[in-house]
Amino acid sequence: TRTIAVTGSASGIGRALAASLRERGDEVIGVDLQDAEVCADLSAPEGRARAVREVLDRAGGALDAVVACAGLSGVAVGTVTVNFFGVTAILEGLRPALARAERPRAAAVASISATQPADPEVVRACLDGDEPRAVALAERAVERGQGRLLYPSSKSALARWLRARAVSPEWAGCGIPLNAVAPGVVLTPMSAPLFEDETMREVMDRAVPMPLNGYAEPEVVAGALRWLVSPDNSHMAGQIVFVDGGAEATLRGPDV
Ligand code: NAI
Repeated sequence: TRTIAVTGSASGIGRALAASLRERGDEVIGVDLQDAEVCADLSAPEGRARAVREVLDRAGGALDAVVACAGLSGVAVGTVTVNFFGVTAILEGLRPALARAERPRAAAVASISATQPADPEVVRACLDGDEPRAVALAERAVERGQGRLLYPSSKSALARWLRARAVSPEWAGCGIPLNAVAPGVVLTPMSAPLFEDETMREVMDRAVPMPLNGYAEPEVVAGALRWLVSPDNSHMAGQIVFVDGGAEATLRGPDV
């Protein structure tokens, strides 16, 4: 039995992943605001520290994989604190326990949004690990009605952080593959509001064109995450795998 921590396990992609891992016999330690083995608020340092502590307690020192799915959409400051600082703190906090496992794995959930326009100052503050500055910039953006750049900024920073960290001595050097999936539109409670309004839906369909099979069910993204943290994945590091119905290839074109 492998022991796997999954954040955001109470809903959407994290929930689908936790269910499918359990079905296959893994032990899942879910982390979420509620309805999870470990209830913690990943938007602030205390909650993140408690989540790390309680996951380690439950795992009894043997943690085989971590998947950080918890995230927030919208135009609020929480997008930056949860999607970037919450994710990176959990991954770094649990890394020493992973390093002791035989075949450790880690993954996060980025987004197609990471390819869209972002606020470079917010991204920089995130990559500098300067949460007070990132929050101050995010608050200012919200006041100015520019909150829509925060979600792409949080995901862009996460993707960049992950690519750099994945090949460092602490991750690749310790034998821990660290990768991410970047979904297009996934049918979860997070995306549901987008479907309530015809105009919003049209804007979204232009921003995220998905020629292959359209919007994805959360199980589809969970399947990709499952492989990223499976023993089969021994050599993929620092990759952002677009599970997006072809959106990234459509938007960026053939030149890689
Ligand atoms: P969801 O809203 O169904 O699930 C997210 C989970 O994260 C919820 O259970 C929520 O309680 C938890 N969470 C949020 N804030 C938290 C906090 N402060 N502390 C602890 N847990 C917290 O959303 P979904 O769609 O499953 O999203 C999962 C990930 O996928 C997110 O990182 C999201 O940004 C990403 N994503 C989703 C897409 C979509 O279309 N649904 C597209 C691209 C990326």
